[in-house]
Amino acid sequence: MAQIVGIIQVKGGVGRSTIATNLAAILSLKKPTALIDCDLPQGTSASWYAVRQTEVPQKNLTLATARNHRELVSLAGELVRDHRYLIIDGPPRIAEMTRAILVMSTLCLVPLGASAAEIWSTADLLGTIEEARRLAHHVDARIVWNRFRGQTREAQELSEAARQELGLRELTARLGYRVAYSEALARGLSVDEWLDRTAHAEMRALADEVKQILKEKRK
Ligand SMILES: Nc1ncnc2c1ncn2[C@@H]1O[C@H](COP(=O)(O)OP(=O)(O)OP(=O)(O)O)[C@@H](O)[C@H]1O
Ligand SMILES: [Mg+2]
Repeated sequence: MAQIVGIIQVKGGVGRSTIATNLAAILSLKKPTALIDCDLPQGTSASWYAVRQTEVPQKNLTLATARNHRELVSLAGELVRDHRYLIIDGPPRIAEMTRAILVMSTLCLVPLGASAAEIWSTADLLGTIEEARRLAHHVDARIVWNRFRGQTREAQELSEAARQELGLRELTARLGYRVAYSEALARGLSVDEWLDRTAHAEMRALADEVKQILKEKRK
């Protein structure tokens, strides 16, 4: 049975598709993985996969798309049987789809940039996470810092504010602001397959941390 990782956020452009595609590519190196794009008609993950098929032979990575939460639930029900991981790229709004992703996922990642606007919009998601938790106690949503500007004072202060305001757990792995993320995305690649060693290392660290969390939840 697959474990499910949902990538959710109410705000657009925060890095959901970047994390979903990279995580799916890295996890599929070892285990059958399905990437489910739920952000249609935009379909960034689906477009990435289409380009990817022309670049790299696909063995362990499959793509599926879902237009609404019912489709997602039935699709996931089928895919869990013969995959080890399902990675869901969610839509940029609170809707039935986001609620369904929260409830069905083993772990949800909430990408967040260290900017006040992103922190405020994430606060809107908190109610939805709480509601989902009342329905299913296992709901686990954690922040992933993206475009994190290292040791700047502003980034430190904002991440501290987010910690206090949002009260969500966060991954230790963080992603910096690197052009490699948009370059790799456009080419259907993961940063793992691209030239930037720092991006490669931080995405690997993220994937390792996710794997570790999932492993502990399996016990
Ligand atoms: N850490 C980063 N450094 C530099 N660019 C990044 C980073 N993360 C994401 N980007 C770029 O920012 C843009 C938005 O990222 P992405 O598409 O992953 O976000 P999203 O939340 O899925 O957005 P959308 O609402 O459009 O679906 C993309 O061009 C992506 O390549
Ligand atoms: Mg996207």
